[in-house]
Amino acid sequence: MTEGRGPATVRVRAAGKINLTLRVGPRRPDGYHPLATVFQAVSVYDDIEVRHAAPRTFPVTVSGPQAHLVPTDGRNLVVRAAELLAEAYGDPGRLGARIAIRKAIPVTGGMAGGSADCAGALLALSVLWDLDVTPAELADLGGRLGADVPFALMGQTAFGAGRGDELVPVLSRGTYHWVLALADFELSTPAVFGRFDQLNPHPPLPPVQPPAELLEALASGDPVRLSRVLVNDLQEAALDLRPGLARTIAAGRDAGALASVVSGSGPTVAFLAASESAAIDLSTALSGAGVCRTVKRVTGPVPGARLLS
Ligand code: C5P
Repeated sequence: MTEGRGPATVRVRAAGKINLTLRVGPRRPDGYHPLATVFQAVSVYDDIEVRHAAPRTFPVTVSGPQAHLVPTDGRNLVVRAAELLAEAYGDPGRLGARIAIRKAIPVTGGMAGGSADCAGALLALSVLWDLDVTPAELADLGGRLGADVPFALMGQTAFGAGRGDELVPVLSRGTYHWVLALADFELSTPAVFGRFDQLNPHPPLPPVQPPAELLEALASGDPVRLSRVLVNDLQEAALDLRPGLARTIAAGRDAGALASVVSGSGPTVAFLAASESAAIDLSTALSGAGVCRTVKRVTGPVPGARLLS
């Protein structure tokens, strides 16, 4: 075991996200798509706990209702995060860690759960190993691991350009109440982007700034205004791959949601409610409609990955 100067155990909580707007441009030669998105971090969390382990070993355990869907070998982004962090800022021959993930963010659900775990692991390990690394350097490292990792570190509300990793914070007033419909199936992000390409052979380049109406809605704190500007260019592709999602969306609208939007590449659907009590009513009605695996009530915005005492 390699015990550094840091603590024996470090715990970090990392939030999932939804995209309030997601505009997608033409596929780039590197396979990524230029985006213009506004992320909001919401109150569904994965907890990441790290402890020292033998050098160069990174055993991962995952718990939670969908744990069986998460790889615990080198395919898990947290292992790559640990290796990269040790190489870039530590002495890789001396560093190892056990990484325990307690998952509540839906797996492959369009809420950047894997990126949240990656962000959580980067932050937790930087403390465990007592590394000299700044938040900006962690975000840069995170961006090399996945396009959504920098936002998972930052949290709150932010405009994302480039691959979604060039971030500018956005002012947001108040708290928004969402009801999430979690699907009983997964959608692969590359598959949804691939279908987007087929359905949109020549999409325009995404805007370089967030839409003014969205900024105004967020600054006002009025959910009705926000409900008018939610948009996701990937929604058509997600629905094309999983037509049953249309029933979920219709059920939420019928149950009184102000608006709905597929989160990222889906299949999670986020319904915006007018108030906390409206969200409670909406989640009850949606649960009874039998159109998804489970219903979860969340609020946003919330902070990004942060240390738990
Ligand atoms: O960066 P990350 O590994 O999370 O992205 C997963 C996949 O999603 C990419 O391999 C790519 O197929 C797609 N993607 C994209 N354009 C983006 C972000 C992700 O095409 N801006």
